[in-house]
Amino acid sequence: MLTTIESGSCLRDDGLLAQLADRFGTPLFVYDGDRIVQRFESLATAFDGYAGGVRFHYALKANTNLAVVKLLLAAGAHPECISGGEVELAKRLGAAGSDILLTSSSKSPAELELACRDDVLVNVDSLDELQQLEAIARRLDRPVRVSFRVNPDVDPQTHRHIATGHKLTKFGLLLEDAHYLEGFKIAHKSEWLRPVGIQAHIGSQIMTLEPFERNARLLCAAFLELEAELGFRLEFIDLGGGIGIRYQPQHVELQPSDIASAVCGIVTSALGQTRLPQLWFEPGRYFVGGSGVLVARVHSVKHTPFRNFINVDTGFNQFLRPLLYEAHHHVRMIGNAGLGEQRYDVAGNICETGDILAEDRELPTPVAGDLVALEGAGAYCYALASEYNSFPLPAEVLVRGDSQVDLIRRRGTIDDLLRAQQWPSDFGEAPSGVEA
Ligand code: LLP
Repeated sequence: MLTTIESGSCLRDDGLLAQLADRFGTPLFVYDGDRIVQRFESLATAFDGYAGGVRFHYALKANTNLAVVKLLLAAGAHPECISGGEVELAKRLGAAGSDILLTSSSKSPAELELACRDDVLVNVDSLDELQQLEAIARRLDRPVRVSFRVNPDVDPQTHRHIATGHKLTKFGLLLEDAHYLEGFKIAHKSEWLRPVGIQAHIGSQIMTLEPFERNARLLCAAFLELEAELGFRLEFIDLGGGIGIRYQPQHVELQPSDIASAVCGIVTSALGQTRLPQLWFEPGRYFVGGSGVLVARVHSVKHTPFRNFINVDTGFNQFLRPLLYEAHHHVRMIGNAGLGEQRYDVAGNICETGDILAEDRELPTPVAGDLVALEGAGAYCYALASEYNSFPLPAEVLVRGDSQVDLIRRRGTIDDLLRAQQWPSDFGEAPSGVEA
């Protein structure tokens, strides 16, 4: 019986996790830095044989801790950003603006201006946005590189909340109507816009090859249509992120070599062997998802005739995926690999019925003070965390090599809960920690 998902990682070392919990407290996110880098390298090397070259943009939204982002940038990833905030973070890590890709379906004038000033590549989502961007580039007298996010109407076979590439979603210019071609025509003619690529991110946590293959075929067809209609070849085709990871024992991950041979095969047979465009990908979860666990402490155990509960010191405010996406995360009791005879719900400390972090799991019966590992917590966990119910945010720790442990985000405090609050002057003296 498999009791942990992450074999071969320090994240399965219960002694280490228990020590870290004692030293830094709980709830605690622990990341395996070596695994993050290995995941990058295994994906990157799988594409070595592709003559056009390959480039990986790490989707910062998956895990925005600067130490995690730094590991990936140092390994060779470029930043993929969703907001002006992420662009600023990437720049603070030393990324050149020209290495950054900005993708969002709703960019503000300030974000478009930031992109123009810093030579960030703007992945345009609508013709309206394109016109605004052109006006800003003209005003600043700075031509800007653009790609277009297209909507290929591909079903990624994933949860509906994280399916982005079908035609009822808000994302991209539909390939099936003329808008995408219109966008390229406008950009091609404009002295302020430099069209260089085409992108389609079809969804997240994709476990089968077929959606990636369909996406690749459709983007190649668009590439050829653009060449025939406008007479220019794009520099890159960007297939977005979305590679799924193993959250449950029965999940089988796509292998990098399978993705590479399928996609490269499609691209080279559609576009020929010479003057191939670069291939871009934007993984987030694939690099970091399985490289993190959330360690929580058991507060109490409750048995009822109907259900049994293990009450822990975290909740959906810090571990939202089960509630938001019906996501299943593997759970294990730290230091107790056995299975009990009871089935438990692991319940959080938030005052809501939906605050169940793991449902109906066979687990050994713990006692108060025991530790639980919620696995697969490296992506979209801390990133989605809030201070709901006035719980300060958890700490984050990075482990590298045999013994290098770094606290990469201190635990939140009560003062942090109040950090942006202001006190109306006629209310009298401000409470401690609140600005008057
Ligand atoms: N590129 C774009 C334009 C994206 O919107 C995303 C993710 C990615 C790349 C990276 O996708 P990944 O490789 O990580 O699947 N919070 C959800 C996932 C939301 C994904 C949002 N976009 C979850 O926890 O499942």
